Amino acid sequence: MRVSVEQVPLFLAPMAGVTDLAYRLLARECGADVTVTEFTAASGLTRKNTYSWLKVESDPREKPFIPQIFGGDIDEMAKTVEMLQDRADVIDINFGCPAPKVCRNDAGAALLRDPDRVVSMVRACIDVADIPITVKMRLGTGSGENTALEISKRLEHEGVNRICVHGRTLRQRYSGIADWEEIRQISESVSIPVVANGDVVDARSASSCLDLTGASGIMIGRGAIGNPTIFHEIKRDLGWTESSPPWEYEDKSVARKWCWDRYLELSDEVYGSQGGKNLKRHAVSFTKGLPGASAMRVKLHSMRDNKELGLEVSNYLEELAHPATLA
Ligand SMILES: Cc1cc2nc3c(=O)[nH]c(=O)nc-3n(C[C@H](O)[C@H](O)[C@H](O)COP(=O)(O)O)c2cc1C
Repeated sequence: MRVSVEQVPLFLAPMAGVTDLAYRLLARECGADVTVTEFTAASGLTRKNTYSWLKVESDPREKPFIPQIFGGDIDEMAKTVEMLQDRADVIDINFGCPAPKVCRNDAGAALLRDPDRVVSMVRACIDVADIPITVKMRLGTGSGENTALEISKRLEHEGVNRICVHGRTLRQRYSGIADWEEIRQISESVSIPVVANGDVVDARSASSCLDLTGASGIMIGRGAIGNPTIFHEIKRDLGWTESSPPWEYEDKSVARKWCWDRYLELSDEVYGSQGGKNLKRHAVSFTKGLPGASAMRVKLHSMRDNKELGLEVSNYLEELAHPATLA
């Protein structure tokens, strides 16, 4: 592995149902430099929907705080920026979501078929914003020419502060391999920071991605699900950090157990004693692929009390980390 790549910020990707506030705080303690909320509908925020506003809760420990918004209506998007900006350091706009219910409303990645509309939407947001506006997008829709390069150049002109590119098209959703080459073309064509996203899962892929794209940052999604230590591991393996991690010593199982317990603590702080709505999902992710994980998953699905569920996973991970302690 090449260890000579220059250090860049590591981003935890916005992921609906995964990157809740407790998980974002945990990822930061594990070495993530920047976190972003899951995407939140401008329509929900402008209608003062409580559930939407809960998604854009933060905490003083999350600096900068970057809520991500999406929508198909330009006025509604600009209004959302006005409503949100007092509590945010940066606002990110999503042009990457492939979900049919989002794309049907001409929002998310569907907008990439119409660069003029993307530019108008971003311009309207920038016009009302007192804080930086960033954008996350895919390469294009997958029908016709990819539009990300053209859009990036035009958005730089409009005053966007940073662009994150997921190296897939809308049509690809999550299949195939992320095209880092195309991200390189974009990062070479604009002067604002370009963050590369797609298929970074460890130090080796982080290093290759940086080598190939010349990006100013890397964003990690699926590789960080149930595995927040990935940020520390990349920094450690690429020689970007000498500092010790918060867990007792460098061992994958010990680290996993520390992270789970810390997630429970943060969840308790943020959401109260029953934890957040994503707790069970995280529990399944934290145990995935480990010995006895399928039986554990079945058990977890039948549990109703989140406190008990948290403890169950904690004991399970303790046994794997220190096999003798529960014997
Ligand atoms: C469960 C899940 C939820 C996601 N939710 C969002 C989202 O809310 N906003 C967004 O911009 N991208 C979202 N994405 C896409 C990721 O941010 C990222 O672009 C994609 O997973 C590719 O990166 P990866 O290969 O590192 O996973 C989501 C992805 C997953 C797997």
